[in-house]
Amino acid sequence: MNPDSTATIFLPPQGSTVSGQVDTIFNFVFIASIVFFLIVVSVAVFFVIRYRKRAGMAVAEAPSHNLKLEILWTVIPTILVFIPFFLGFRTFIKMHIVPKDALQVKVTSQKWFWTFDYTVEGVNSLNELVVPVGKPVQLTMSSKDVIHSFYVPGFRIKMDVLPNRYTVTWFEATRRGEFELFCAEYCGTGHSEMIGKVRAVSEREFKDWIGAGSAVEEGLSLVELGAKLYTAKACITCHSIDGAPGIAPSFKGRFGIQIQLEGGKQTISDENYLRESILKPMAKIAYGFQPVMPAYQGILKDREIDALVEYIKSLQK
Ligand code: CUA
Repeated sequence: MNPDSTATIFLPPQGSTVSGQVDTIFNFVFIASIVFFLIVVSVAVFFVIRYRKRAGMAVAEAPSHNLKLEILWTVIPTILVFIPFFLGFRTFIKMHIVPKDALQVKVTSQKWFWTFDYTVEGVNSLNELVVPVGKPVQLTMSSKDVIHSFYVPGFRIKMDVLPNRYTVTWFEATRRGEFELFCAEYCGTGHSEMIGKVRAVSEREFKDWIGAGSAVEEGLSLVELGAKLYTAKACITCHSIDGAPGIAPSFKGRFGIQIQLEGGKQTISDENYLRESILKPMAKIAYGFQPVMPAYQGILKDREIDALVEYIKSLQK
């Protein structure tokens, strides 16, 4: 089936094993609501006009009850609510029981990006979850700071991600393609930019990706690698590279200058300042900015830190 034909006016084309069931329930509730809205409102309008008060006509006695009508308006709505209940319960169970052979991924959310750790494969990635088609994937999720919510509309799954607690969800992609990942819980200034993607690939592509993921990218120069990491490690969410102001200082022209810090101190923006600000951003807060940057200690490899420092240095003009 052409995936585009499974898109609804509210959601993108289906991409997981539960999408079809979720859409069936939604469409049932939605269409039933429209149909009954039209029936109730049109009958009400008709009665208001037809039986309006007119000169010379006596007011009729209101009937106290009508057994047939009462049975009818009890039985029909009962059936109507039982249909989505049973359909929904079946899908709810399916969405909450993770198949045994699922691929295990630990998801960490923080302001304002996602980290994916493939627990068995020993690979990690930022803002991009790569999965093989036709294999269930279990996500065990927790947050480093506030509540975020893992939402992939194409898969019809959404699950809150909390600090100090694990939440679990799973999905199985049914076709190859890219699916948008949103944070669906307001989590601060960068919430609307906390966007990632899920890339569903063939089993072979997945194996290749896992293989490549564990190796540091040796082929690139440090500046080239830094430019890649700028996007891949989500620096782009807050730091511009064209001097435009944002949540955080722009990288452009940031190296080698005098920097005002919160608390009235100053510092020179040299390599060590940049390194420290990447690993422990709370050590020195730039004047006029909120202390919202996540610490990258343990997330970046040494060569990646070098690459980012060199990249920032390269953005002088
Ligand atoms: Cu994270 Cu909104």
